[in-house]
Amino acid sequence: MICVSKNESNLNSQNLKIKGKTILKGKVKISGAKNSALVLLAASLLTNEKVILNNVPKLSDIEKMKNILKHLGVKLNSNNANNLIINSKNLHIGDNLPFELVNGLRASFFCIGPLLSRLGEVTLALPGGCKIGKRPIDQHITGLRELGANIEVENGFVNAKIQGEKKKLVGSKIFLSCPSVGATETLIMAATLAEGRTVIENAAREPEIQDLCLMLNKMGAQIQGYGDSKITIDGVEKLSGCKHKVIPDRIEAGTFLIASAATLSNITIGPVIPNHLESVLETLKATGSKILIKGNEITIKTKEIKAVNIKTAPFPGFPTDLQAPFTALMAIAKGNSEISETIYENRMGHVDLLNSMGASIQLVNNIAKIQGVDELKGQNLKGSDLRSTAALIIAALSAKDTSYIGGLEHLDRGYDCFESKLNILGANITRNFNEQIFFNQTIVDENISKNKEKFKAA
Ligand code: EPZ
Repeated sequence: MICVSKNESNLNSQNLKIKGKTILKGKVKISGAKNSALVLLAASLLTNEKVILNNVPKLSDIEKMKNILKHLGVKLNSNNANNLIINSKNLHIGDNLPFELVNGLRASFFCIGPLLSRLGEVTLALPGGCKIGKRPIDQHITGLRELGANIEVENGFVNAKIQGEKKKLVGSKIFLSCPSVGATETLIMAATLAEGRTVIENAAREPEIQDLCLMLNKMGAQIQGYGDSKITIDGVEKLSGCKHKVIPDRIEAGTFLIASAATLSNITIGPVIPNHLESVLETLKATGSKILIKGNEITIKTKEIKAVNIKTAPFPGFPTDLQAPFTALMAIAKGNSEISETIYENRMGHVDLLNSMGASIQLVNNIAKIQGVDELKGQNLKGSDLRSTAALIIAALSAKDTSYIGGLEHLDRGYDCFESKLNILGANITRNFNEQIFFNQTIVDENISKNKEKFKAA
C-alpha cells in the first residue's frame, strides 16, 4: 500500500482529525519491525558484500538510518517500496559523522560495533536521552571494553579504538547488569568478527535480537543461544552478504489489537509471529477480548473491556512499547487497574493527556492507578513521544466527538501509514497538513511539569 504522500509541510504542524465512536472491521497488513530493521541496517556494515533486506517499513527513523549509512559511503538501492540493497564495500568515515545525524537517532549508536570491527576506530556522538528517559549506554561501553576496545567518552562523543596491530577485538565473557536490547545487539555484532569466543550472560531475549542473529548466521556468523539469556558467539574471519526478510512488527501489531479492543471491534491482523505477542494476547484475553490465531494471522473480537493490572518487563514480559496504548484501553475499562512502567523512568507523558480527555488516572512513582470511565471526550492534543501519540489516537477513536491529534513527527518515526491503515479498517481520519490547530496543551503541560517529581526512576 502506498500511503498518502506527506507533503512538504513540517510534520510538527501536521495533525490528524479523528472522528470518535469508530467501529473497526476487516483486515490490516502489519509492516516489518522498526526495531529489527534499524539494527539489521547497522549489521549490514559488517560485510563488504551485498545485503538485501526485504519487508523494510517506511518510517522516518529508517530514512534517518539510511542517511547515516550514506554518509559512511554505503550504496543503497531498492527495487520495490519495501526492500533495500545495501553495499558497504566503500565503507569509510570521513570527518566524524555529522553530530545532528547521529544525535537525531539513538539507534545510530548500533553502528559502533560494526564500524569498530570493520575500521578499527570510530568516533560517534553520544546518543542523547529522550522524552522517556536518560537512555544510558554504559552497558554498551563496558562490554566493548571487555572485548578489548579502548573507549573514551568526552564532550558528548564516544571514541572507540582497537589496540594492537591485528585490529581485532578479543572474545570475552560479558555479564550485562540489565538485559539491555541495544547493548546485547551492539556486543553480538562486535563479537562476530572478534578472535575467539564471546559469551553474553543476562542478554536481552527480544524477537528483534533473534532476527538479528538469524541474519548474522546467514552471513556466516557462529551465534547460538539467541532468544535465551545466554548467547555464545564464536568469532569468524569475515562475513558475507545475504538476503533477509525483516520480521513483522509486534509493537505495531499490538497497537492495532489494542485499538480494536478499545473500539469494541472485530479485526484481523497479519502477517504476525504469534509467539512474539504471547504476553499481549494473554493480557487482552484477560480484559475480555476473544482472540483467534490462524497461522500468521490473529483475529480479535471485543464486547467488553475488563480492568487488568500489568507490569512492563523485558521480553517475554509485557512490552514497555505497548504500555501507553494499553493505558488508553484501561482508561475506559470496567473497574480499576494499575499499570507499572518498570523499564523507563519517564514514559508516562500520556497520562495527563488522557486525563484531559476525561480519563481518571493518578500517577504515583511510575504506576498509573486507573479508574475506568464510561467514555472519553474528543480533545485537541499533541503526543509527547512515539507511543503516547499512538495512545492518543486510540483514545480518540473510542471517544465521543472529534479530536485533533498532533505529534505526528513522533508517530511517523514508528508507524508505517498508521492512519491510512486505520481508515482501511473503517476509521474516519484525515491528516491536516497546514491547518493550524490550537492544542490545549498548556493546561496539560502544566500538569505534566507538576507531576514531574512523581516520575521516580523505575
Ligand atoms: C530498544 O531500545 C527499543 N529501540 C525501544 O523501543 C524499546 O523500548 C527498548 O529496546 C526496550 O525494549 C530500538 O530497538 C531501536 P534498552 P534500547 O537498552 O536498546 C537501561 C520504541 O518505542 N540501560 O533495552 O535503547 C535503560 O536505562 C523504542 O520503539 C542501561 O541502564 O533499550 C533503559 O531504561 C523506545 N544501560 C533500559 O535499560 C545501558 O547501557 C532499556 O534500555 C542500556 C540500557
